[in-house]
Amino acid sequence: MANILETKALTKRFGGIVANRGINLAIEQGKTTGLIGPNGSGKSTFINQISGMFPPTSGSILFEGEEISRKPACEIASMGIARTFQRIQLFGHLNVVENVLVSRCKFMRASALDIALGTARVRHEEKAQFDKAMEFLGIVGLDGDAWKLPSNLPYGKRRALEIARALALEPLLLLLDEPAAGMTKEEFVEILRIMEILKERKITMLLVEHTMEFIRKAVDRVYVLNFGEVIAQGSFEEIERNKAVISAYLGDENE
Ligand SMILES: Nc1ncnc2c1ncn2[C@@H]1O[C@H](COP(=O)(O)OP(=O)(O)OP(=O)(O)O)[C@@H](O)[C@H]1O
Ligand SMILES: [Mg+2]
Repeated sequence: MANILETKALTKRFGGIVANRGINLAIEQGKTTGLIGPNGSGKSTFINQISGMFPPTSGSILFEGEEISRKPACEIASMGIARTFQRIQLFGHLNVVENVLVSRCKFMRASALDIALGTARVRHEEKAQFDKAMEFLGIVGLDGDAWKLPSNLPYGKRRALEIARALALEPLLLLLDEPAAGMTKEEFVEILRIMEILKERKITMLLVEHTMEFIRKAVDRVYVLNFGEVIAQGSFEEIERNKAVISAYLGDENE
């Protein structure tokens, strides 16, 4: 199978810190790739580089064969790469369905004149986009909460809303930065269920996660970072037995 995304010698420095050092990583189309590593090993930095939030210091990022490492975040999103954030980033003053509708702007076809005149075309489009937003909320089990403010949702549902908002971009590749962090077991089973549906819908995913039980269930292949470098890659079972990985994690626990 083809790779949807490849990085070549991707490097990011913050002053004296090398947060990502020469990362060569390939994400296979239709698969879920895991990215694990101790705290501060560079996982979020990697996602921030792919999604265009941090320009790389050096190296390249190829998305469907095209170099994207110098493109702005909004262009990368419209090419088909969506993400969620390690710390939830929702629009607090918008309700649940409005948070999802924000991602639908790029699908709006009405002209400025149509909008100014409030034509039937605009009303038709608004209805169509609303229905789409509700469909994405349905996937994550939030269609019954459409009119609530995010602050009135339990934590697990706020995380699910972030996923719905990313899905509403209709991405080819979804980057999930610790979607199950701080969750109860029930909430985490719900995120796994959502990921199964996305996989059936052929959405390729990159999953950053600390909980090994979650990684084991969710991914086809895993990369392991330590101090910004890839120290291992393979199936979960291969990684679990890898001595460099075990010592990176034991070192982390002994801190
Ligand atoms: N914007 C920034 N400015 C300066 N240093 C940064 C910045 N973002 C990350 N770093 C540093 O880069 C290194 C990697 O951080 P990163 O957040 O990518 O790690 P992580 O693997 O996501 O960790 P965690 O598991 O805690 O989320 C850390 O040393 C961090 O302090
Ligand atoms: Mg992180």
